[in-house]
Amino acid sequence: MNRKDDHIQFALAQPSTRNDFDKVRLIHHAFPETNIADIDLRTTLFDRTFPYPFYINAMTGGSEQAGKLNQRFARLAKHFQIPMATGSVSAAIKDSSLLKTFSVIRDVYPEGFVIANLGAGHPIENALKVIDLLKANALQIHVNAVQEIVMPEGDKDFQGWLASIETIRRGIHVPLIVKEVGFGMSAKTFSQLTAIGVRYVDVAGKGGTNFSKIENNRRQETLASFDDWGQSTVESLLAAKPFTNLHVIASGGIRQPMDVIKSLVLGAKMVGLSGYFLHLINQHTDDEAMTKINSFIDELKLIMLLLGKSTIASLPNAEYTYTP
Ligand code: FNR
Repeated sequence: MNRKDDHIQFALAQPSTRNDFDKVRLIHHAFPETNIADIDLRTTLFDRTFPYPFYINAMTGGSEQAGKLNQRFARLAKHFQIPMATGSVSAAIKDSSLLKTFSVIRDVYPEGFVIANLGAGHPIENALKVIDLLKANALQIHVNAVQEIVMPEGDKDFQGWLASIETIRRGIHVPLIVKEVGFGMSAKTFSQLTAIGVRYVDVAGKGGTNFSKIENNRRQETLASFDDWGQSTVESLLAAKPFTNLHVIASGGIRQPMDVIKSLVLGAKMVGLSGYFLHLINQHTDDEAMTKINSFIDELKLIMLLLGKSTIASLPNAEYTYTP
């Protein structure tokens, strides 16, 4: 079976679990002094304003099934005018017949903010090529050492990633986002990225889709060491707080509207969801999924109303407790 199809199948088999967002509690105040009519979910990032503070994060492309999913994700993204990231486009660099499974996103959502995704270690030519092929508005480079280690056919040479990211950062003309794939980021990682001029990071922490478990599903002999590896999204966001030059995107284990708000309170500028959208369209028609997303948006507004915060930019002032 195709690796992309394996990833979809095994990600769908993973249940949503408790995670560190459950250990963050927002403080209740009895006098919100805010009117629902004044709640404004508009969010500014990459010098652009989006209607909502969440988007469809990197997942797929590179197989027939992946192309169909991308078409459906793009319909949702277009309906809500939210950004959408592709899965890693490297498969289409190697085999151009696979390009249409990614470019279907552009066909459906020509005006959209589309983020192309590539693994770390690619030469600048590949970065320029995928941006051009998809007319991408931003580029995500994913750093996935844990996944590569557990992946049966994965790379085991991780030298030169930082240097290659710096070359790409200098050579492209759209924003560069450096992104994990579900194992989170440390203060050391933020400081190394800051030093090479990276301004956008997606912490993609532990707590949601687990790529060690997914790759273990694809192995003959399980590698048990890494299923609990890494920092949660909450831990990663707390570690990012001192890095005021970074625009931090939260992702990894965002299961519900409350997790979006908690991420924004912890300093994220925007929130990415992958597993949530995959399960949503697997279980529902497009129309049903749109109804669910409308309820999700209504719930975001209700939480903000109760917090007495009418704008996304004011959420980092909300009070919370975190009990590890
Ligand atoms: C992913 N993810 C991912 N990330 C990436 O940067 N490039 C990729 O090609 C993929 N592929 C992929 C396939 C599938 C089926 C899933 C579910 C996920 C990882 C994803 O962007 C995200 O970092 C993690 O899934 C954690 O977020 P969630 O799923 O807990 O919201």
